[in-house]
Parts: sequence; C-alpha cells; structure tokens
Amino acid sequence: MTQNTARNILVTSALPYANGPIHLGHMLEYIQTDIWVRFQKLRGENCFYVCADDAHGTAIMLRAEREGITPEQLIDRVNKEHKADFDSFLIDFDNYYSTHSAENKELSELIYNRCLAKDRIATRSITQAFDPEKELFLADRFIKGTCPKCKAEDQYGDNCEVCSATYTPMELINPRSAISGATPIEKDSEHFFFKLPEFTEFLKEWTRSGTLQPQIANKLSEWLDSGLQEWDISRDAPYFGFEIPNQPGKYFYVWLDAPIGYMASFKNLCAQRDDLNFDDFWGKDSTAELYHFIGKDIINFHALFWPAMLSCADFRTPTAVHAHGFVTVNGKKMSKSRGTFIKASTYLEQLNPEYLRYYFAAKLTSHVDDLDLNLEDFAQRVNSDLVGKVVNIASRCAGFITKRFDGQLSATCDEPELLKQFVDAGDEIAALYESREFGKAVRLIMELAETANQYIHDKAPWTLAKKEGQEQALQNICSNAINMFRLLVTYLAPVLPAMTEKSEAFLNTKISWNERDQLLLGHQINKFKPMMTRIEMSKIEAMIEASKEDAIAEAKVSGNAPATETQTSAATPIEPFADEIEFDDFAKVDLRVALIANAEHVEGAKKLLRLTLDLGGESKTVFSGIKSAYQPEDLIGKLTVMVANLKPRKMKFGLSEGMVLAAGPGGKEIWLLEPHEGAKPGMRIM
Ligand code: MSP
Ligand code: ZN
Repeated sequence: MTQNTARNILVTSALPYANGPIHLGHMLEYIQTDIWVRFQKLRGENCFYVCADDAHGTAIMLRAEREGITPEQLIDRVNKEHKADFDSFLIDFDNYYSTHSAENKELSELIYNRCLAKDRIATRSITQAFDPEKELFLADRFIKGTCPKCKAEDQYGDNCEVCSATYTPMELINPRSAISGATPIEKDSEHFFFKLPEFTEFLKEWTRSGTLQPQIANKLSEWLDSGLQEWDISRDAPYFGFEIPNQPGKYFYVWLDAPIGYMASFKNLCAQRDDLNFDDFWGKDSTAELYHFIGKDIINFHALFWPAMLSCADFRTPTAVHAHGFVTVNGKKMSKSRGTFIKASTYLEQLNPEYLRYYFAAKLTSHVDDLDLNLEDFAQRVNSDLVGKVVNIASRCAGFITKRFDGQLSATCDEPELLKQFVDAGDEIAALYESREFGKAVRLIMELAETANQYIHDKAPWTLAKKEGQEQALQNICSNAINMFRLLVTYLAPVLPAMTEKSEAFLNTKISWNERDQLLLGHQINKFKPMMTRIEMSKIEAMIEASKEDAIAEAKVSGNAPATETQTSAATPIEPFADEIEFDDFAKVDLRVALIANAEHVEGAKKLLRLTLDLGGESKTVFSGIKSAYQPEDLIGKLTVMVANLKPRKMKFGLSEGMVLAAGPGGKEIWLLEPHEGAKPGMRIM
C-alpha cells in the first residue's frame, strides 16, 4: 500500500483579521482545512499548509488608536493570541505569518507593477465622505445618522436596520462620523482601479474549469453575465498598509495584499527549508496543486479578483477554491447577548478541542451550506460516538491483554475476514476525505465502530475469562478487537490528532494509513488509559456564561465602531445559500397578488425590466430579469405573484422593492394570471 509519486500540494485557510479574537465560527474553517491537510500528510503526500494574520486596514489602525498602542504592537499581540488558539485546537500550520511582512510588501509591489506594465490599472478621481476632524475618508460603515426614510436614529451609512432602506451615507439626516462625531464633508481624491472587466472572458473560462463548487460557479456566472466593475485597490493616508510604489499618500487596499499574504507566508516557509522552492508552487508552469479554503462571504475576492490578478502578473492560478458555510449555534446566528459568540479561548477553558473537531467533521460536507453547532447534540454525539463507541472498544479488551497475557497480542487473529473488511473500508473513507465529505467519512467509521462493538458483545470475552481452558480464545478475541480499534483510530487520525497520539502510546506503534494492513500480531501493547472522557453539560453552560461576560468586556474596548471595513466588491456580495427552512420561516414570506400597472425597458440593462406593481392601493417598483422572455407591453394589465416584504435592494438602476415569482425554463417565465381568474391585487396568498 505505498505510493510511488507523492503529490505536491499547497493549502491555505483565509487569513483572520488581526483586530479580534478567533471564535468558533472561524474555527470551522481552520478545522476543516487542518483535517484535509492531515489526511494528505498521513497518506504520504507532500502537503503544506500556510496561513497568516490579515494585519492591514482602517479597522486595525483605529483599534490600535483606541487602545493607545501602535498598529504594530496590536498586530504582534493578536498574532500571539491567534497562534496560541490555533495551537490549542491542534491546527498544524507549516507556517503562520503576517501580511505585514517584507515578503508580502515585495510580492504586492511586484504584482501591482506587473499589472501596471500591462496597462491593467486605471486612475480616476472619486468623491467620498470625509471626516474633517480626523482627516480621514470614511467607508459607509463608519458613518452614522438618522434614516432618511423612517427617521430611525443611529443607523449606518449604507442601510437602515429598522426599515431596511438602502441609501448613500450623504443621504442620512444629520450624518456623523462614527469615529469622531464630526459632520462628514464630501471630498474628491484620486484612486487606483484594477481593470477587472478586461478579465471577463478569462474568468468565464476559469470559473467553469472545475475550480469551484457548482453552486458557486452558477452564482458567479450570473455576475459575469451582468458585467463586472473595476475594482478600487487604493486607499488614502492615513491607512495602515503598504504604500503604493511612486504614489506617496496612497496605500494598497487591504484586500489587495491579503491574498498575496498566502504567497508571502509560503515564501517565508521556503526561506526556512532547503527542500522547498517558491516557483515550483507559484510559477506559471507549476504542476503543484493549490487550494484555498474560505468562507462563503469572501468568494468574490478569491474567485474573481485573485485569479485575475495572478494571471495578469504571470503567476499560476488556484487549482480550486473550497468554500464552506457559516456556523450557527443552536439554530441561530452567533450572538453576543445569547452567549453563543464563543471565542476559541473561552471554549478551551472548559472543553477539549477534539470534541469540536469531531463534531464539525461529523457535520461537514463539500457544499456551502451553513453548519449548526447544536450544543446538546454536540455533547450527545461526542459522548455516544467517541467515548461510547470508539474508546469503549479498547477499554473493554485492553485489561485482559495486560493482566492475563502480559500485554502480548496473539500471533493470529480471531476473524481475519472481518479485519480485512475494516482494512478495505479505508479506500472508501479516503475518497470521502479527499472530496471533503467528512460527514460521510465519519458515518462510515462509526458503522465500523458499531460492528466492532457488536463483535465484542457477541464474543463476550468477560464470560470466557471466567471459564477454564479458554485462554487462547480470550486472547484472540481481545487482540482482534484491539486491531479493530487501531484501524478506527487510523481513520479518525486526521480529525483527532491528540487521541491518535495517546492511542499510539497505548498500542505501542505508529499509526500509518498506508501500512494499515500490517495487523498487530504477537505485538506488545501498553497499559490502557482512557483517551477521552465524556462532555458534561455543566461545562457547556459555563462556556455560555463566560461568553456573555466576554461580550460585555469587549463592548468597552471597541465602542460602537464596526469591526471591519465594508468590503468593496465587484458585484453584490454573494447571497447566503439556501438551507432547509422551518414552516415559520416560510410563513414570513408575504406573497401577494400584484397588478402589473406598468412595465418598461431599463436603459443600459441587458436583462431587466422595471415593473410598477399595484398591490391594491400601494405601489412598488421591482426590477426583474425577465426581459428575454417578455415584451413589456404584453405584461401590462396582467396579475402576478410577488414577494411583498422582501428587503429593498439597491441596484445599479435604482431601488428594487420586492420580487416577482418566476418559473419555467431557466427561471425566465413569470407567473401570470388573467384578471378574470378571480385574484385581486393586494390579496395575500396562503
Ligand atoms: N481577512 C479576511 C480574509 C482574507 S483572506 C486573503 C477575513 N477575515 S475574517 O477573520 O473575517 O474571517 C476569516 C475566515 O473565517 C473567513 O473565511 C470567514 O468566512 C470565516 N468565518 C468567519 N466567521 C464565520 C462563521 N461564523 N462561520 C464560518 N466561517 C466564518 O474575512
Ligand atoms: Zn429606516
């Protein structure tokens, strides 16, 4: 079972911002990536896992200022905290670095200069809100004021949390800087743009070449069809980041140098090792594999800007980008007030990191769905699977081997066929790990664990132990069970590195995936000590309480400034991917019959029609992408069904205040009713 040629694989996780602690939402990503990397390493591949802190940007600059320290001091401190959290969760990076590094500066300049030389950088002046007191341009999230529509106070500069209106910051009534309280003014300044639209054809090809999960490729192709915009890659001083070459006072936007941080961290690793060469992994002709594990919120940065920039600068592009969904706790978004916004360090004060590694693994798929950490299910599952099924196998049989046979396993096994079945299952489990179907892999492993427990139950070694002349049978059965245990630990090794290590000490052998068919026969084992204990609910409760306290303490430091800067994207950020919903969620959807009072073409839009919908008195404007299926004049006077309580959405052409339901091939046909069919505008459906 040995392989001839090992694959060269470079793997990354997204770089966490250096202005805040690691929480359990983040941990999903680092655990997912770490399991995949450990699996590759265990199988003998040349796999490297690099990461870093994302250390630049306005949020970090302001946080340092509030704490009365320099940004460098802040990012150094946070770097140590992040590293400690990752170490404790057994995340085995080959290198953990920072984007605020010499390597990253050099690579960012190189990539920018190559893009500039190819005329892919544009310059133009834009108008933005400016804080005259702090002398700082303000991103939308750094402006607060009264909502122009519903007059709710203290709303952010891009949308109202009370009435959902969207607007520009200067439309706020009494706008103020969230940093100084001063009234913002409008100010022009020169910005640099990456000419993303020129890469549309390249990206259409790239996103369809097996690099992305199908769900994501589909979403991106919608954006690619509706047209990309140039990407603003510069920010004005004061800014914590890298100054743009030959442009004093202009800095690279944090999202330009952040992904380059992957390269920089790897370059730094190469400097520490003789056997690694940067170009072998990043050169245009590299045959190495390159994978980025990310969350679904940052897909556009990794699947549009990043490959375009890499190809423009003559580097290789990623083999694939693997996106995961978001962690919810007990079915809801993590919340500071509910105590479910749990920091990694707060978890670690109460619980074993491998519990969480196991639970996440058991629920992970290769898809982008959100993952719920249900705390009761978490305790129940860890206790029944790991403690009740896996560790139990060893604990039921090890004592006999130690006490009766001096720690010696028998020379032949009791049921070779059954053990062969365990060995062979490894191929299917490997394929599931490889394709990131960890949940399915765990299910197969637990089925094997159940088989092993059934075997022990049927053979009842404790009865044999009391009988005369059954010595050999007893030793054979216990040895067989311990070999089963060894195979289970082999398969769980990517998920449970600490338990694996303890099992290696007990089994007195190294766990090896490729040599798992070499059974332990006539082999000496060590005294059994439980590798894992049960989760107590009281620990979980203590963790929730501590998290509530963390939130109160944190509020004092961060004031009410937003944690991160609003991201400038080429298109609207990707929408959450749909999970199953409860009936109550569905009941929230207000479906109404609407009369199409007017329908017209939208200047400059390829697919949209502007519909004016009459809901029996109230009128709403909706932009709908059904132009290819209908002439506007054919729609006027017809009835359709609309989602009337959809949060209004700011589009390039204006505000869309709802959505009409569509069906038919390609989602192009709209639900139409003739007025004589009895429906009346405004009627609620359900
Ligand atoms: N700094 C950027 C990434 C730059 S990569 C060149 C960033 N940082 S982050 O700290 O906000 O998030 C780091 C990763 O954690 C992202 O992939 C993000 O999607 C993921 N998660 C953050 N919160 C999460 C959950 N609640 N659930 C799952 N993943 C989450 O984005
Ligand atoms: Zn409002």
